[in-house]
Amino acid sequence: METRIQQAAEILSRSRLTVALTGAGISVESGIPPFRGPGSFWEEIDPMEFAHVDAFMKDPARVWEVLVSGLKRKLDTAKPNKGHLALAELENRGCLSAVITQNVDSLHQKAGSRDVIEFHGTFATLSCLDCGHQAASADIPLTFLPPHCQCGGVYRPDCVFYGESIPLEALTRSREFASQCDAMLVVGTSAVVHPAAMMPVLAKQNGATIIEVNPTPTPLTATTSDIFLQGGAGSVLSRLTEAVAIPTGP
Ligand code: OAD
Repeated sequence: METRIQQAAEILSRSRLTVALTGAGISVESGIPPFRGPGSFWEEIDPMEFAHVDAFMKDPARVWEVLVSGLKRKLDTAKPNKGHLALAELENRGCLSAVITQNVDSLHQKAGSRDVIEFHGTFATLSCLDCGHQAASADIPLTFLPPHCQCGGVYRPDCVFYGESIPLEALTRSREFASQCDAMLVVGTSAVVHPAAMMPVLAKQNGATIIEVNPTPTPLTATTSDIFLQGGAGSVLSRLTEAVAIPTGP
């Protein structure tokens, strides 16, 4: 493992443009359950019944009660872990240009990452379905569900539900990074949800080296990843960041 961490660190040190793609796994050590696998959200509830836009539009109260409010309460108290902090540190040192995240938890921003592309939107804000008013999630009490705007309309979280498009700017910037980067760090994603899972494939097709961090192999591991660092994001990314040489001046 140490050799592979050293190899990955050398690739990151040499890369002119590195981008990270993260998934729910990076937030597991912050106490947020993943979507798949033991103890996950989709083990408890059917995503098509609760995370599809049609389900939300049909019965917003039910989706708020079963999925959104529980998840939002977890997110409100979660703190960034060593994995988020390591990526922020890499960006600070000029070794990482951006994080493309599928997560809606804002933990990368809380850790200090500045360029975060929220591929599946965010829970940090809510929008009124009627007047479009946008509110900070933290300002809206969840005493009565679904929460209502002053105009009487129902608030929705600004995340991407199944059946909705990826926000255009997030998709465009992610594709640009994926086609231009020299290295992509893929952390804590099962890589089964598209189009996010296509980003490492696109990067690889354009000549990038793919470094994957995950406790268990994914569909990318055998097909797309060049270096697989097996383990939890917190410990692997901390070790990797320590091993990355601090760039020297021109
Ligand atoms: P998943 O829940 O599908 O996958 C989480 C991944 O994290 C798995 O591959 C785990 O092995 C890995 N993992 C678990 N613990 C970890 C740790 N401590 N460190 C690193 N990795 C760990 O989550 P995503 O791939 O993010 O979309 O799921 C993608 C999308 O599916 C989500 O954005 C969400 C969901 O349905 C929408 O809701 C639109």
